[in-house]
Amino acid sequence: MAMRGQDVVLSQVSMTFPNGFTAVQPMDLTIRAGEFFSILGPSGCGKTTILRMISGFLDTSTGSVRIGGEEMTGIGPNKRPTALIFQNLALFPLMTVWENVAFGLEARGVAKDARRRRAEELLDLVALKGQEDKKPTELSGGQRQRVAVARALAVEPAVLLLDEPLSALDLKLRQHMRAELKAIQRKTGVTFIYITHDQGEALTMSDRVAVMNEGRLEQVGTGDEIYNAPASPFVATFVGEQNRVPGQVAEVEAGYARIDTPFGPMRGRRTEALSVGDQVTLFFRPERATITDQPADAMNVIDGTVARRDLEGPFINLFLKADDRTFAVHLTNAGDAGRDLDGAQKIAFSCADALIMADGAVAKEAAQ
Ligand SMILES: Nc1ncnc2c1ncn2[C@@H]1O[C@H](COP(=O)(O)OP(=O)(O)O)[C@@H](O)[C@H]1O
Ligand SMILES: [Mg+2]
Repeated sequence: MAMRGQDVVLSQVSMTFPNGFTAVQPMDLTIRAGEFFSILGPSGCGKTTILRMISGFLDTSTGSVRIGGEEMTGIGPNKRPTALIFQNLALFPLMTVWENVAFGLEARGVAKDARRRRAEELLDLVALKGQEDKKPTELSGGQRQRVAVARALAVEPAVLLLDEPLSALDLKLRQHMRAELKAIQRKTGVTFIYITHDQGEALTMSDRVAVMNEGRLEQVGTGDEIYNAPASPFVATFVGEQNRVPGQVAEVEAGYARIDTPFGPMRGRRTEALSVGDQVTLFFRPERATITDQPADAMNVIDGTVARRDLEGPFINLFLKADDRTFAVHLTNAGDAGRDLDGAQKIAFSCADALIMADGAVAKEAAQ
């Protein structure tokens, strides 16, 4: 059932509320037609406000929203080619599943037979064939979620806006629904703009992710780019886990820097211009580090003492203390990983897996 997605272009869009609080700083963002695009950020960073401006429930303070090349200023939510799904689904409890799905079509003057046919097609699309005549209360949470998706798609939006739609579901169901939503998006070709504070959701489902903090876009990129090449200390630490080592730049090389740290010399990738003497932080991820007796070289090694060992299931989270800092190392759980580890140990990680960023890099970027 091919529908058609459209692109969404935000140009200098911002939101300052009547109380003077600016929830969204002037922002440029292009979401491509047919893309599964996520906006990821902590609670309160402005995600829902952006969605409300795209859907037309909130007028922008500055800038313009264009959908499919059309300027949306002055166009009400019902006239925009968008549909919205919230966490609280609000299905109509007294209506059957198919009546819920077809609800928006009645207002558009579609005859009952055609509404039923359309509802059946949509329920087939969301893998709920045969559930047409049930009531929402007879369905599981995940099934109700899919009814809500079918209902939103019934009016053939070019852009589907999803505001943390899975946050009320339990973990297993949430993970299952990720795959379902992604499949529905692919089948329809509708542009999905998916808001979440859950990095797992953003990384698994999206073609591209925008990471937001305090009303600003910190980075826009594929999941791999965001995870492997974070553009700022905020992105580096908000997405995934990081160990941090404070240091001072000793030598700048092409794409890399050498730094002096309380744990000895270290080397890592850099993404910005650095000068000798700059205060920096080196980031390395727990899953890119190893425990070893024989480090390949003297660089990027931390001598620590095992402080704690947490079983996460698929991996073991090993915490080592060094000076007054704690570093985490993930060991794949192959059965007994980390059980024999005790006392003094060495953490080692490669230069390619370490990222060096200037302290206050975010403030510097914003000032440019
Ligand atoms: N009508 C409003 N008036 C004033 N502040 C608001 C209003 N709506 C939201 N905010 C504030 O704007 C910020 C962003 O809110 P929101 O977009 O809902 O964040 P998110 O969806 O990322 O959790 C929050 O600090 C919130 O308290
Ligand atoms: Mg929100």
